[in-house]
Amino acid sequence: MLANIIDGKKISADIKDEVKNETAKLKEKGIEPCLAVILVGNDAASQVYVRNKKKACEYTGIKSLSYELDEDIKEDELIKLIDELNNRDDVNGILVQLPLPKHIDEQKILLKIKPSKDVDGFHPYNTGLLSIGKAVLKPCTPAGIIELINRSNIEISGKNAVVIGRSNIVGKPVSMLLLSENATVTVCHSKTKDINKTIKNADIVVAAVGIPYFVKEDMVKDGAVVIDVGINRLENGHLAGDVDFENVSKKASYITPVPGGVGPMTIAMLMKNCLLAAKAQNGGGDI
Ligand code: GUN
Repeated sequence: MLANIIDGKKISADIKDEVKNETAKLKEKGIEPCLAVILVGNDAASQVYVRNKKKACEYTGIKSLSYELDEDIKEDELIKLIDELNNRDDVNGILVQLPLPKHIDEQKILLKIKPSKDVDGFHPYNTGLLSIGKAVLKPCTPAGIIELINRSNIEISGKNAVVIGRSNIVGKPVSMLLLSENATVTVCHSKTKDINKTIKNADIVVAAVGIPYFVKEDMVKDGAVVIDVGINRLENGHLAGDVDFENVSKKASYITPVPGGVGPMTIAMLMKNCLLAAKAQNGGGDI
C-alpha cells in the first residue's frame, strides 16, 4: 500500500482562512481579537516561532502585542506583566513562549495566566477540563492532530491509538483528546516494555518521542494511520521526523510528512483559540 499523504499545509491554511472570516465578522460587531505574545531571552527557535505566530495574527486579522524581555528578567517582573495583561479587557489571549530561562519556574508562570486567556491550553485548569472532555482552549498541537485526522475523514471511534511519548505539551493531551474521540488509547514511553508489539497493534500511531526515524516500517500494522509530531534537527541541518517516512509510507494508509504535516497546525489552532477566547470573553460562551 502507498499511503495518502495528509497535507498539513493545506489543512492549516483552510483553518486560518476560517479564522480570518470569523474574525472579520467579530470586528463588524466591534470586537477585535487580541493576542499578547511574551518572549523571554534569545532562544533562536523560539524567535522563529514567535515571528510566525505574529505573522499568522496579521494574516487572520487578530491584533498582536509583542513583549520581548531580557534573558535575566526576574520572575516577579514577568508575573507583573502577566497580571497586567490578565486585567486588560482588550487582551483576549496571553502566550508565554517556552522554554523559559532556567531561573524561572515554568509551571509557576503558566499558573499565573488567567485560564480564559490561556490560548496555549497549558494552565492546569484547562488541562483538567481536557481530562473530563470539556476543554474549550485545547493545547494547539494536540488539537491540530485531531483536526488533521478528522479533516482527512478518518474514523477515530473504536480504533486502537498508540501515542509514543508522554510530554505535557503533546503526548498526554493528545491521548486525552483521542480518548474523547472514543479511541482505545495506549501511551508508550521510555520505560514501556515491548514497545514494538504495542505499536504493531495500533490503527493510529502518534509519534511524539523526539528521536529521529524512531518508527520503522516493520513496527507498524499494514494500513495504519501514522501521525509524526517530531521536529528533529540533524547534524547536517536537515529536519527529521520521528517516523522513517520513506519506508513507513509504503505500509501506512495515511501519513503526515515532516515538514508540512503537524507543524503548521500548531499556529493555525493557536489562531482558532484566540478567536474562541475573544468570543467567550465577549459573551459568546463560557470558558
Ligand atoms: N514551545 C514549544 N511549543 C510551544 C507551544 O505550543 N507554545 C508555547 N508557548 N511554547 C512552545
